[in-house]
Amino acid sequence: MIEADLLLTNCHVATMTEGSVPYGAIEDAAVLIQNGRIVWIGARADLPVYKIVKTHDLGGRWVTPGLIDCHTHLVFGGDRSGEFEQRLEGVTYEDIARAGGGIVSSVRATRAESEDQLYASALKRLRGLKDTGVTTVEIKSGYGLDYDSELKMLRVARRIGREAGVRVRTSYLGLHAVPPEHKADRATYVDKAVDEILPAAHAEGLVDAVDAYCEPIAFSVEEVSRLFDKAEQLGLPVKLHADQLSDGGGAALAARYHALSADHIEHTTEAGVKAMAEAGVVAVLLPGAYLMLRETQAPPVALLRQHGVHMAVATDCNPGTSPVASMTAALNLACVQFRLTPAEALAGVTREAAKALGISDEVGTIEVGKMADLAVWDIKRPAELCYWLGTPLLHAVYKDGVQRA
Ligand code: NIG
Ligand code: FE
Repeated sequence: MIEADLLLTNCHVATMTEGSVPYGAIEDAAVLIQNGRIVWIGARADLPVYKIVKTHDLGGRWVTPGLIDCHTHLVFGGDRSGEFEQRLEGVTYEDIARAGGGIVSSVRATRAESEDQLYASALKRLRGLKDTGVTTVEIKSGYGLDYDSELKMLRVARRIGREAGVRVRTSYLGLHAVPPEHKADRATYVDKAVDEILPAAHAEGLVDAVDAYCEPIAFSVEEVSRLFDKAEQLGLPVKLHADQLSDGGGAALAARYHALSADHIEHTTEAGVKAMAEAGVVAVLLPGAYLMLRETQAPPVALLRQHGVHMAVATDCNPGTSPVASMTAALNLACVQFRLTPAEALAGVTREAAKALGISDEVGTIEVGKMADLAVWDIKRPAELCYWLGTPLLHAVYKDGVQRA
């Protein structure tokens, strides 16, 4: 007899397990949960003998894994909607960055704010993610760019994980931009980021992965390699903002370090895609930044499929290029702009996003042994999650088997 704290019944479940059935769907299903984990999942007719504490009748709704936003810059200070106005007048993102705006303007604002202020503004954006079914969110540093401010950002991210009802994975993004005080001696900044800031943040338990921005307006392959060598020494996995605005060999670099993911990859070539496939690097597609920068070259989705590269989808929620705090918006944009099928897109915010964070053993699909992070939706078919832009579809969320308020 299976013992369970909770039985979810009268529902359809998109388990999102890999296999021949679209969405890994089980119609008229039931789920048994014990101590925050899934202990049984299957057709209601096959329910084994069980001893339960309580039952939730889900009224025929659909259940998916709790959604995972595997690439965000949720914590930052200030506001850059003025740059949006400039870009609409024809000024480019690179022009703004070179003129001292862009990421660096968010750095000035982030440095000036306290942990409490950063926490409060991040919670507003988190609200949008939670209301669209998110139970796990990755949060990067990268708007501090000095010792105190980078650690401050990561502490805020950890606090979100403790207090805000979501699982948080942090990434140290020290090589995001050259901070203004190091404009004339960027090598000194890279040294600091690699030899001082990362080790200190790691020693404080603030770092789950190491990220960097590899682009002519940001950091070179050589500079990023120095950081990744250090990450390797510390036993930390890496991921990379790669080939977003130009082909700079970012995908191949990510592959060389067996990165968890290479993100953006609009300009990645077939050689880069092959390298990713061989090294098992997940492609994280970020359709919000693509939309907001009015990009015209989409990521090489056909090549990713052809070479069997796993594709995740994320919001990239950030102050400059992706003011997107909705997971269902990211799903829709991935389908419309990148031509992902709804099944691919939904896998991209569940199973594949978990891979991109290295937490597939715990979350990402609805399977026995995984955490009971679940989203319950008022929809008739899973594809509706990719269809509606802005209509609230969420009915309830369970995190660690407990219904979230
Ligand atoms: O993921 N590409 C670099 N980083 C962000 C943009 C950051 C910003 O402009 O503030 C991104 O799109
Ligand atoms: Fe990003």
